[in-house]
Amino acid sequence: MKRKSTIETERLILREFKLGDEYEMFSNWASDPEVVKYLTWPIHENIEVTRSIIQSWVNQYQDPTTIRYGITLKESGELVGGIDVVKYIDGVPEVGYCMAKKCWNKGIMTEVFSAFKDYLFTVGFEKIMIRAEVPNIGSNRVIQKNGFQFVGVKQEIKQDQLVDINYYELSRILETDRLVLRPMSDSDYKSLQAVISDPETMKYYAAPYDEAGVQKWIDWCKASQAKRKFSLWSVILKETGQMIGDCGVSMQMIDDELRPEIGYHLNKKYHRQGIGKEMTQAVRDYFFTHFEDNEVYSYMDVNNEPSYKTAEANGMTYLHNYVTKDGEECRVYRITRSEWEKLKK
Ligand SMILES: CC(C)(COP(=O)(O)OP(=O)(O)OC[C@H]1O[C@@H](n2cnc3c(N)ncnc32)[C@H](O)[C@@H]1OP(=O)(O)O)[C@@H](O)C(=O)NCCC(=O)NCCS
Repeated sequence: MKRKSTIETERLILREFKLGDEYEMFSNWASDPEVVKYLTWPIHENIEVTRSIIQSWVNQYQDPTTIRYGITLKESGELVGGIDVVKYIDGVPEVGYCMAKKCWNKGIMTEVFSAFKDYLFTVGFEKIMIRAEVPNIGSNRVIQKNGFQFVGVKQEIKQDQLVDINYYELSRILETDRLVLRPMSDSDYKSLQAVISDPETMKYYAAPYDEAGVQKWIDWCKASQAKRKFSLWSVILKETGQMIGDCGVSMQMIDDELRPEIGYHLNKKYHRQGIGKEMTQAVRDYFFTHFEDNEVYSYMDVNNEPSYKTAEANGMTYLHNYVTKDGEECRVYRITRSEWEKLKK
């Protein structure tokens, strides 16, 4: 695996550790008892301890399985924390992170962890694990906001004390040549907002979504995923690690019946590059492979040409128009399991 030298988010740059980082690491977090309270390692008594850790981390970069970044603030360049793959368990990376107290409660680690987990998915890992001590409220929130599923609690011995640890994991749904699809989470808010609150992208909808509407959309996806194991999933572009839209299956009222429907919404920067086709075909294949339904639909405003062309490119057939309960006239498309099987031969 060729490791990325930096990962950029809205407010941060993750970069590899280097000699000299011991000063900021020591003063910002390694010497702070509150920061290390829930971590697996004891507080650094002096900067020599930190220096030798940094030296060993720099040496470990020779090993291609080492994935460890320092977290720096874009504005000032200051090093305020770290995030890494702590270990691999049967090939599954377990993530760990820590950060200076002055940066807590600003959504920074949620942002860092979101980018880091998507980086791990884009380089080919299918599942990611993380654990947090039960009373570590902040860390448990960061993990939950990133859509990780609670697996269970284990008791472990830490520095001669018995502690309760929450275990979490997250699996991606599927990947294609250019994309990874994974469950949607609260940490996707801004990226999703850039899509469904954009008037041009949503011109065939009654209105672009407002702030509450974006959160409702996420909540609806989370609920569908929990209940049915499918939903609209977040679409991550492998090249940049960014969430550029959603695509997946949801239950929709079509012809006055609740039917599984492939839906899709892409950030307008990525329209007309074949991404719609790539993601909908992968979702269609996933749906017929993992579920027993014999048909899947797409429907869209009667004038939404990009959408109905995408449905056609997805092997679907136009059936008829249908007027929704809100009075919107839609085209209805469908592909049956037998049509899909023929297509795949
Ligand atoms: C619908 C959407 C996801 C399509 O994504 P995309 O990546 O641009 O689509 P692709 O490049 O894969 O194109 C898929 C097919 O649609 C056609 N197409 C895409 N945009 C088109 C346009 N503006 N006009 C005509 N055809 C178009 C492509 O030519 C291709 O057909 P082909 O395989 O026969 O060449 C994108 O336009 C979008 O996000 N729209 C806003 C949200 C939306 O309306 N979603 C659907 C709600 S029902």
